[in-house]
Amino acid sequence: KGVKNLVETMPKLNKLPSDFILPLERNPLSVNYAQIPIIDISGLNGASETRDSTIGAIASACRDWGIFTITNHGIEEALIEDMMEVVKEFFGLNWRAKMKYASDDVMSPVRYGTSLNTSKKHNLHWRDFFRHYGHPFQDTFHLWPHNPPNYSNVAREYLERVWKMAMKIFEAISEGLGLEKGYIEECLGEGVQILAANYYPPCPEPHKTLGLAAHSDHGALTFLTQNGVDGLQIKHIDQTWYAVHHVPGSFLVNIGDYLEILSNGRYKSVEHRATVNAQRTRISIAVGHGPQLSSFIGPASPLVADNGSAQYGPIKYEDYIKIQQSSTVRGKTALLALK
Ligand code: SIN
Ligand code: FE2
Repeated sequence: KGVKNLVETMPKLNKLPSDFILPLERNPLSVNYAQIPIIDISGLNGASETRDSTIGAIASACRDWGIFTITNHGIEEALIEDMMEVVKEFFGLNWRAKMKYASDDVMSPVRYGTSLNTSKKHNLHWRDFFRHYGHPFQDTFHLWPHNPPNYSNVAREYLERVWKMAMKIFEAISEGLGLEKGYIEECLGEGVQILAANYYPPCPEPHKTLGLAAHSDHGALTFLTQNGVDGLQIKHIDQTWYAVHHVPGSFLVNIGDYLEILSNGRYKSVEHRATVNAQRTRISIAVGHGPQLSSFIGPASPLVADNGSAQYGPIKYEDYIKIQQSSTVRGKTALLALK
């Protein structure tokens, strides 16, 4: 029934149920905040000099961090708040209404769940989640929740705007890699967008568990917003874990495995995890962008020519998602298996 239901039905819960206790070495540490780059992406619409320096800033952020904050992205704060509100209302439905969307199939077009794999009774995550596809909308829009009544319209507007913003950043990243401006968008083909909303209720012993264990995302770029409560941590390329602050109104943008593959390893997907806290419910909304599910993914040929050889074997994107989403895979092991 999920962790939201658990804390609501056991208001005096002061110990973490044993299924959630992680082995010591996987406990979240209290870590410093990272000073990740903050990039004003309105520069991409500016005169060529401003545009070039913005492309340069994005390229450095991709190389040095794999995650950055974007501001002045053109998506109104009111729309982001509306999106957060309908997500909150969806999680607020009773569990029966949400369980209609429960599925063990990681490719299910709409999917509600808790933890990663509830059939594995150990090391559950302190999280309920809800996910569905976005672009291309005609495929699944009719399957999105009809309750709350304005969910699908708000989510549609939000996802359309995020998709367009993502395409603008892909242009900048293509240019930063020395590729044609439309290169990445062309690789994506029709593409696929996946929304994942995460609900992390207050946790009685937050230092013994995680909302979400360390992983990297399977797509090219993920755009994340949250309800004003921090909890995201990233593993920097120097292997140190840092906390990440989300600036209200901005998006956190992180690199996923497909961009590491496409760039032939020039950019690395960022390993990240979600921590929980004892006081406040945290809600995050992550939107991932990847290539068409049926496409075979591999490094961009101009970048292979530069490096000498393709660093990652070809695989069908859909098959990669299934491996990456299986409950036994941790950290970046799915990606490393392609090397
Ligand atoms: C995610 O990795 O999908 C969510 C991370 C977060 O909740 O900050
Ligand atoms: Fe993620």
